[in-house]
Amino acid sequence: MRTIIKGSGRFLPPRKISNHDLSRWMETSDQWIRQRTGIEERYWVTQEGRTGSSDLGLEASRLALEKAGWTPGDLDLIIFATLSPDYFFPGSGCLLQAKLGLNSIPALDIRQQCTGFLYGLATADAYIRSGLATRILLVGAEVHSTGLDVSTRGRDVAVIFGDGAAAVCLEGESTTEQVGVLAVSLHADGSMAESLMTEAPASCCNPRIDEQMLRQGRHYPRMDGRNIFKLAVRRLPEVAGEVLAKAGLEARDVDLFIPHQANLRINQAFEKAMGLDSQKVFNNIQKYGNTTAASIPLALDEALEEGLIGPGAIVMFLGLGSGLTWGAVLYRFQP
Ligand code: UT7
Repeated sequence: MRTIIKGSGRFLPPRKISNHDLSRWMETSDQWIRQRTGIEERYWVTQEGRTGSSDLGLEASRLALEKAGWTPGDLDLIIFATLSPDYFFPGSGCLLQAKLGLNSIPALDIRQQCTGFLYGLATADAYIRSGLATRILLVGAEVHSTGLDVSTRGRDVAVIFGDGAAAVCLEGESTTEQVGVLAVSLHADGSMAESLMTEAPASCCNPRIDEQMLRQGRHYPRMDGRNIFKLAVRRLPEVAGEVLAKAGLEARDVDLFIPHQANLRINQAFEKAMGLDSQKVFNNIQKYGNTTAASIPLALDEALEEGLIGPGAIVMFLGLGSGLTWGAVLYRFQP
């Protein structure tokens, strides 16, 4: 059994936030954000009404289903990757399932942050290969903006995150061809958990959140950016080499690298470390910021739309983020 991408879709909320907009709320500048991250703008949900990750995920899912020629009734599993679920519990996968008009197929949330899509794809592949599922909807969706400290205190984190969603429809196909998911390499180092986290509300605190925690901003994400940057620059080429070795391939066999969009400089360092032509590494962080679990499928959907992935193309998805978690997946499109 091979895990094949049958369709993809992306959705961005309508509120475009430029770097200049951010500089009205905090001490930052367009120049600082562009130079340090490459980001020019991002999309945030509107302040009126209620929009959760499952709502953005729903829009992306509808588009992916349409491209696959499927209806929600064709699905037998939903995998939802997010670090910003609609609620503490239940998972956003269940909410999305209901919004798709379904009421009995399993729905699984993946809490792997920036590598949510990689872990999700690996999980979907395992479900398909084991015969537990045949048609899977894999979604990455984030609403970061409602949980960011947009004062100067939170500027190192607030300027990088964008809201958004992307989805892929995955189908198990019986074929002897070397297509679909070719190889997977996943890692985690929980000893680094506190280097990128949102601490509260937390079940280890009683109460889970209080006024003092709110005053201290412990309900906002915090990040040891410099350290994570250094680790990403080291780990990404390493894991890329690992997954290539598993598949018996070389970097030159890969037609397009689709890395997580955390920082343009990280992806440029990856490109340099691997000795790649810049055309081979897809970046769209400039327009969307870091959309975490959505970033890799969002980039995939855009790369497909731009005609950058031809028949038979080999693509590598890879990334590193909170957990810490990192990994890479090699995928070959059908010839
Ligand atoms: O997707 C999840 C994984 N996350 C990542 O991969 C993020 C990895 N890290 C990064 O992308 C970068 O570390 C950041 C973009 C977060 C920060 O860039 P940096 O070049 O590492 O800057 P820095 O943290 O070393 O800060 C440099 C200076 C500091 O001022 P001083 O101490 O030199 O006076 C910061 O206070 O820049 C200051 N600063 C800012 N200035 C203007 C931090 N944030 C901002 C800001 N605007 N938004």
